[in-house]
Amino acid sequence: MEYDLFSPPPADGEAERIAHLRAELHRHNHRYYVENDPEISDREFDELMHELQQLEARHPELYDPNSPTQRVGSDLGSADFQTVAHERPMLSLGNTYNREDVRAFYERVSEGLGDAKFDICCELKFDGLSISLIYENRRLVRAVTRGDGTRGDDVTANVRTIRTLPLVLPPRAGCPARFEMRGEVLLPWNRFESLNREREARGEQLFANPRNAASGTLKSKDPRVAAQRGLDAYLYYVLSDAPLSDSHYANLLAARLWGFQVSDATRLAHSLDEVYAFIDHWDTARRELPVATDGIVLKVDSLRQQEQLGLTAKSPRWAIAYKFPAERARTRLNEVTFQVGRTGAVTPVANMEPVLLAGTTVRRASLHNADIIARLDLYEGDYVFVEKAGEIIPQVVGVDYDARPLLTGRKVEFARTCPECGARLVRYEGEAAHYCPNTTACPPQLKGRVEHFISRDAMNIDSLGPETVDAYFEQGLIRDAADLYRIRVEDICGADRSRLKSAQKIVAAIEGSKQMPFDRVLYALGIRFVGRVAAQQVAAALRTLDNVRRATPEQLQAIDGIGAKIAQSITDFFADPRAADLVDRLVAAGVQTALPEVVSLGSQLDGKTVVISGTFQHHSREEYKVLIARHGGKNTGSISKKTSFILAGDNMGPAKLEKAQSLGVPLMSEDEFLQLLEQ
Ligand code: IVH
Repeated sequence: MEYDLFSPPPADGEAERIAHLRAELHRHNHRYYVENDPEISDREFDELMHELQQLEARHPELYDPNSPTQRVGSDLGSADFQTVAHERPMLSLGNTYNREDVRAFYERVSEGLGDAKFDICCELKFDGLSISLIYENRRLVRAVTRGDGTRGDDVTANVRTIRTLPLVLPPRAGCPARFEMRGEVLLPWNRFESLNREREARGEQLFANPRNAASGTLKSKDPRVAAQRGLDAYLYYVLSDAPLSDSHYANLLAARLWGFQVSDATRLAHSLDEVYAFIDHWDTARRELPVATDGIVLKVDSLRQQEQLGLTAKSPRWAIAYKFPAERARTRLNEVTFQVGRTGAVTPVANMEPVLLAGTTVRRASLHNADIIARLDLYEGDYVFVEKAGEIIPQVVGVDYDARPLLTGRKVEFARTCPECGARLVRYEGEAAHYCPNTTACPPQLKGRVEHFISRDAMNIDSLGPETVDAYFEQGLIRDAADLYRIRVEDICGADRSRLKSAQKIVAAIEGSKQMPFDRVLYALGIRFVGRVAAQQVAAALRTLDNVRRATPEQLQAIDGIGAKIAQSITDFFADPRAADLVDRLVAAGVQTALPEVVSLGSQLDGKTVVISGTFQHHSREEYKVLIARHGGKNTGSISKKTSFILAGDNMGPAKLEKAQSLGVPLMSEDEFLQLLEQ
C-alpha cells in the first residue's frame, strides 16, 4: 500500500489513519523545525504522534522506516553499522590559512578557465561530520558517513532522528527521482554544553568539542541516544545523474525548497573582493552562530566550469577551504596547579597573568597531560602562547623560548600525589591522563557522585544544588548519597533556626525522592557507562534491584541496548563491597527497588477499550491511563469501532468529536467515569 505522504487520503480505516497521521506529522515537523512556524501546539503534536505510535504498534505490517515516529529513535531498524561503498567518492578539500593563499586559489581557477568569467559560491565550513544521503522517490533511503572517502558506515537509523532533515520530501518538490545530498551533521553548541554538563554530573569523560560529541552520537548503537542528544544537519552539495542547474548556488536554493536546511550565510561572489568581504564578515560573526564552524568553503559556482577544472587525487581543483586562524595570545605563566575532576582525572592547569583572548579575559588554561608538559619543557615565569580553537577551554600551545628570563622559576613537573587527598596518582595503560585511585574517599569524587545522584534526570532533588552539597561535605554531614536520607531539619536550619523554611523544604524533597521510580535509582547510582537510557532498559527487563545485582554479564548483554562494556561495568559495580554497602544503605533508607507491578483496583473496565480526549479537572491524562489499566481496561489513542467509550474532558477536538459521532461511540464525562470506578 503506497500513499502519497503529503496529500492524505480520507481517514476511515486504521491503515488510512496511519497514512494520514504520517503525512500530517511530516508537514508539522517541517513547519516547526525548518520554517519555525508551527500550526499546532506541542501538545497536539504529541497527541498525534502518540496516536500514530499506538496504531503502528498494532500494525507491524505497515512499518515504514520513514515514519515520523522513527524520529524518536525506536529500536526497530538495525543500528549495527554496515560498511557500504559510496556511489561517488567523498573528497576532502585543500586547506588555506591566509588571504594570499585565497588569492592564489582564485588566480589558479582563473587561469584554468582560460580567463573566462566565473563566480564563487561562498559557504560556511561547518565543523561536524560529513554525511551522504541518498533520496529515492522523495524518500530518504540511506545515510552513510564519509569513512575513508570510498566506503563509509551506514548510519541511517541515527540520521533519521535529526529533526531538521526531511525524511520524505513534498510531492511536486521538483527534485530528481534519485539524488544524493551531502552535508554536515553536527551538535549545536547549546546541546553540546548540556550534554557535557550531564556527563560531568555522571562522572563520565567530557567531549572536547561539538565535533567529537556529534561523532560519538552518530556512531551510537542505540538511535534513542541520538534522538535525545538533538543532532542537526546543514546541507551543502547536491549530486544527481539527472540534470541539475549549472549553478551550484541555484541547486542549493532549490534544495532549500525541497525541505533541506541550507545555511542562510551562503552567498555568490563575483570578484575576489567579494570573497574577502565574506571571509572578513564571518571571521567575527561566526561567534554568534548556534553551531561550530572552522572556516569558509569557496566553490566555483558553475558545474560545467567545475568539470573543466577537474580533480587532483584527493581534492577538487574547483574548491578550497579557508580555515579561520585560532585566536592566540601571549602571557606569563605564574604557576601550574592540578585539578581533580569528578571522575578522578587530574588535569594540569596553567595559572597566568590575565590576557584578553577572543573577547574574554583568560587567567587559566589547560595543559592537558604529563606528556605535553614534558614536551613543552616548561618553567614557571615562562611566557606562553594560549589559543582558543574548536575547544572551549583555552589551551597552552607553546612557549616563547626567546623570552625566557635568565633566572627562571621552578621546572614544571606533573604531580605525583592527589592535591585533594594525597593518594599516589596512577596512569592506566594506553591513557594519557593521570587518575586519583581513591574513589571512595577523595572529596571531589565523592561530591561528584552525590551531585549526580540529586541531578534532574536522576533523583531530581532540586532544592539541593552543588554548593549545598559542598557545604554538607565540609560540615561532615554527608559522605555519600545514602547519608542524605539521614539529614534532619535541625542539622541544616542553623543554630538560630533562621533557615528553617528552606531546611524543611530540603528534607521534604529528599524524602519525596524515595518515590522516584527504580530506573531513576539505578541511573542515580552513577555506574560507569550507565546512562539514562541504559538504566531504563535494564530496569524494564529485570524489574528489581535484586535481579540486577544477581545478573551475570551474559544476562545483562541479552538486554536490548546493553553491550559488553556496560554489562561488565554493572557487574563490577555490584561486586565492589563498598558500592554494595552504599546500595544497602539506600535500600534501608527506602528508595524504590523495583518497578511497580500493575496493581488491580477493580474490574469495572474489563474488556473495555477507552480513548482519552480533552483536558481534566481531577487527574492528569497520565493518571487516567494508570487508572484505566488498574481497573482492567485498555487505553488507545485513536477512535475506532472497537472503542467502548471516550473519556471526554473539556475542549475535546472537533475531529475526534465528529469521528465519535459517526461511529456511534459514546462519550463519558470525567465525573461519570470516576463514579463508575467507585462502584
Ligand atoms: S564541500 C568536494 N562544503 O569539510 C567538496 N564541505 O575538508 C566536498 N565541510 O569533508 C565538501 N562545510 O565534511 C563542503 N560548506 C561546506 C562544508 C564542507 C564543512 C567539511 C566536509 C568535508 C570537509 C572538507
